[in-house]
Amino acid sequence: MNHHHTPLSHTIDVTQPNVARMHNYYLGGKDNYPADRQVCQRLLEHAPSTQILTINNRRFLQRVIRCLILEHGVRQFLDIGAGLPTRDNIHDMAQRYTADARVVYVDNDPMVLAYGRVLLQHSDQTAVIQADLRHPDVILDHPQTAALLDLREPVAALCVSVLHCVPDDGAPAHLVRRLAARLGPGSFLAISQLVSEDATMRHVITDFMRESTDGHWGAVRRSQDVDRLFTGLDILEPGLADVSAWRADTGLGWRQRTREWIEYGGVGRVI
Ligand SMILES: C[S@@+](CC[C@H](N)C(=O)[O-])C[C@H]1O[C@@H](n2cnc3c(N)ncnc32)[C@H](O)[C@@H]1O
Repeated sequence: MNHHHTPLSHTIDVTQPNVARMHNYYLGGKDNYPADRQVCQRLLEHAPSTQILTINNRRFLQRVIRCLILEHGVRQFLDIGAGLPTRDNIHDMAQRYTADARVVYVDNDPMVLAYGRVLLQHSDQTAVIQADLRHPDVILDHPQTAALLDLREPVAALCVSVLHCVPDDGAPAHLVRRLAARLGPGSFLAISQLVSEDATMRHVITDFMRESTDGHWGAVRRSQDVDRLFTGLDILEPGLADVSAWRADTGLGWRQRTREWIEYGGVGRVI
């Protein structure tokens, strides 16, 4: 592999546990390796709810997509921190409600790009690009984003279960501010992030994940840190919540019962 000019996070090393492949493992996928599975098992010792939390977060995504399509007429999605292709990707979820949904998948993991391209190569309604959420303008100005999404029309940016992957360097706030500014009124931001109100829990899991991923991780945060990201947005009902409870009365999911940590967030409209 050519490492010239390649940032650390942009190389494939299957002996180094990796968030995209851990996520794939928890969702029952096959694109993961012993190193990933081992860390997943150890993480379950700290937080036994992690697998159900991952599944619940996908169900939240499904409910968000349905709400945005059926109630707000959204047809364009920007899935930031998309993860490896799975059984039910955003375009699969969206196409249950509308045939004309367009989706740009964004991830900084090169394996996501490689697998995504194979899966999506026959579709002209989807694209996958390799980019870092810390550089929102690179994402929005990318030729494939420009080719597929009309930024003058509403876009739903999905930043779901990804902001905890970046450290407290202002990146989440910068991303949200830039997306809101560039996408403009009538667009939407869906956000979830790992949260615990227990300081010990936050520190133990944050340290564990940073050590396990060679520093490629951010932090478990408090719900108030996520609330702050929505400042200036019009927050859709039922507000910001444990995502397993966000519109959970609709048959697409159940409420999480174990609560060492939760995915917390909701949806805001740019005004
Ligand atoms: C836990 S998965 C979430 C997948 C999906 N959004 C979901 O909610 O099911 C997090 C994904 O974000 C990606 N990621 C982590 N840091 C990132 C960054 N700085 N920029 C872009 N993607 C990132 C990882 O590679 C991984 O695929």
